[in-house]
Amino acid sequence: MPSLTHAPMPTPTFIQQHQIDDRVLADEAAAGLLAPRAHVSPKFFYDPLGSRLFDAITELPEYYPTRTEAAIFQAHGAAIADAALAATGAAPVLVDLGAGNCAKAARLFGLLAPRRYVAVDISVAFLRESLLALQREHTAMEMVGVGLDFSARLHLPPSLADSPALVFYPGSSIGNFSPDDALRLVREARATAAGGALLIGVDLLKPAALLQAAYDDELGVTAAFNLNLLSHLNRLLGADFRVRDWRHVALFNAADSRIEMHLEARHAITVRWPTGERHFAAGERIHTENSAKWAPEAFEALLRAAGFGAVRRWTDPQGWFAVFLATG
Ligand code: AVI
Repeated sequence: MPSLTHAPMPTPTFIQQHQIDDRVLADEAAAGLLAPRAHVSPKFFYDPLGSRLFDAITELPEYYPTRTEAAIFQAHGAAIADAALAATGAAPVLVDLGAGNCAKAARLFGLLAPRRYVAVDISVAFLRESLLALQREHTAMEMVGVGLDFSARLHLPPSLADSPALVFYPGSSIGNFSPDDALRLVREARATAAGGALLIGVDLLKPAALLQAAYDDELGVTAAFNLNLLSHLNRLLGADFRVRDWRHVALFNAADSRIEMHLEARHAITVRWPTGERHFAAGERIHTENSAKWAPEAFEALLRAAGFGAVRRWTDPQGWFAVFLATG
């Protein structure tokens, strides 16, 4: 009988660079709660329930960014891919920041035919299942999952950044960074692209009522997403927040061109945790998120300040969202 030999099935490589330390996270959260104007980083939204609530937000009629970005790729994907490949060369390395379920990047595989796909998220655990499934479909593509907190610093293992790359950062998450941190991240993305390109989704300025509705939807899903942060802090910090003592607030800060989310105390409350406590007066707030909304020219200026020499952009017919390709 002839013996059949099968090539071994390729498997993704996983590299966890960032050590997730709950003690350090708890100290960071406590320091924010004790600040004169209490604040907590939006990264604390994303416990398992918070991640599911965010997925639900992306399906809400009021939350236009996800579907508008998808429509831009649907309409202009081929032109975007051609322009990106002109910078990186054929069969590029595709570096996907905040990859999660890898679905947005996977939709570009047919157009870009990357030789290597590097999916980056804070924990490789978030990437494992999606990368294993993708690898079964794309057996010729090298796949790597990297656990990295790129909100602190984007620096890939040198073996992965060995040629011009296309760095892909969809979803307008750049808006959740302060202007200084956004510039720092774009600079690091340019260094990671190493002569290739950055492809990034950016939410644009629009009438305040549209923005307000997107962050304070009628079903209350965004309110639940914001309030769930308190349950996360209770587990992380051992705090005694009661969700019903707080209300979701979303407002457009025109001076700083951003939506802000806050949690507002419904009445005077003292919150306690093992190493501290904080008194909140009625109406006092915890600032939980900024989501910057850019004028297209202002974002182009940021890309140029980060060192990029050429910038192209594609938008939807209403000009609500933009996909920028920065090269050089
Ligand atoms: C992840 N990020 C881009 C979202 C945003 O729109 O700023 C997070 C979000 N917050 C409330 N709704 C969605």
